[in-house]
Amino acid sequence: MKALVLAGGAGTRLRPITHTSAKQLVPVANKAVLFYGLESIAAAGITDVGVVVGDTAEEIRDAVGDGSAFGLKITYVPQDRPLGLAHAVLVARDYLGDDDFVMYLGDNFVVGGITGLVEEFRGNRPDAQILLTRVKDPRPFGVAELDGAGRVVGLEEKPEHPRSDLALVGVYLFTPVIHDAVRAITPSRRGELEITHAVQHLIDRRADVRCTVIQGYWKDTGNVADMLEVNRTVLEGMARRIDGDVDHASETVGRVVVEAGARIVNSRIVGPAVIGSGTVVEDSYVGPFTSIAENCRVTDSELEFSIVLRDSTIHGAGRIESSLIGRHVEVTPAPSVPSAHRLVLGDHSKVQIHT
Ligand code: G1P
Repeated sequence: MKALVLAGGAGTRLRPITHTSAKQLVPVANKAVLFYGLESIAAAGITDVGVVVGDTAEEIRDAVGDGSAFGLKITYVPQDRPLGLAHAVLVARDYLGDDDFVMYLGDNFVVGGITGLVEEFRGNRPDAQILLTRVKDPRPFGVAELDGAGRVVGLEEKPEHPRSDLALVGVYLFTPVIHDAVRAITPSRRGELEITHAVQHLIDRRADVRCTVIQGYWKDTGNVADMLEVNRTVLEGMARRIDGDVDHASETVGRVVVEAGARIVNSRIVGPAVIGSGTVVEDSYVGPFTSIAENCRVTDSELEFSIVLRDSTIHGAGRIESSLIGRHVEVTPAPSVPSAHRLVLGDHSKVQIHT
């Protein structure tokens, strides 16, 4: 069995973070979302992985390499334009050959991995198996309708009026019958070959399509609150580890990770929280559910329930909460006169100012 990991696509929902970075590399607890997926694939005993890449190919290749760090053998499959998930299966046809495969969308996060699901699929070997999860607003997803016996009777892509709250999770298990289905469908309203339609095509032809409903799922719906929430969940599962320097004037409480090369000076860190390597936290407080990535400087500030990406500086900022801060960002105090905010914000930035 192989895996096909989709790591193309534009990532419009997580702007501005994804203006400059692939959406699959957005960090959760200081680790790229994509890496959790690759680890889950390796844990399920799959080693041959095709990674479909588009415009951000270089960045993905730099981050993932040949896959040996994950115990995987990675083959990159270029997709020249993002024409849909079913199109990705089309372009990977030669790579996949006649093997069964798990298709994993690189921007999806499945708490607890996929080992059980892969084993179930290998045991029963239906034509296809999809994953579903209950969500509050199913409209940005594929949505499944089940009959009384829990069988999938219909799928719709991003419906305006969803027939259920069961969203398609971006992990699909396929036998080679999917190849005929992706060739049979035509582009959707958004101009893409939808995998949802390919699976519907299988259902229409009475193929054995099974579903599993899971819990603990996140994807980049563009909602910062959701992202802070998944970050919180992952941080909660981490063990305390202090590999960096914590001086005598500092205190670290509970599940705190201070990576090697990080420095904590005259500060208080209350976990769960993670401080990336090369980062300095000085004269500051870092509260629960906070991830600060590599090479940041946090001085004379308070930070809680937030995510800070690498190479950013937060100095004399007072208290920051529930925030997502990108790479190479500077937050500093304005001069006291005139009493005004001074902002240099990129496209699609969102700022909430306390007045
Ligand atoms: C895609 C699928 C959708 C699925 C979602 C999960 O959406 O088309 O059915 O629910 O992935 O991540 P997209 O990310 O292309 O909007």
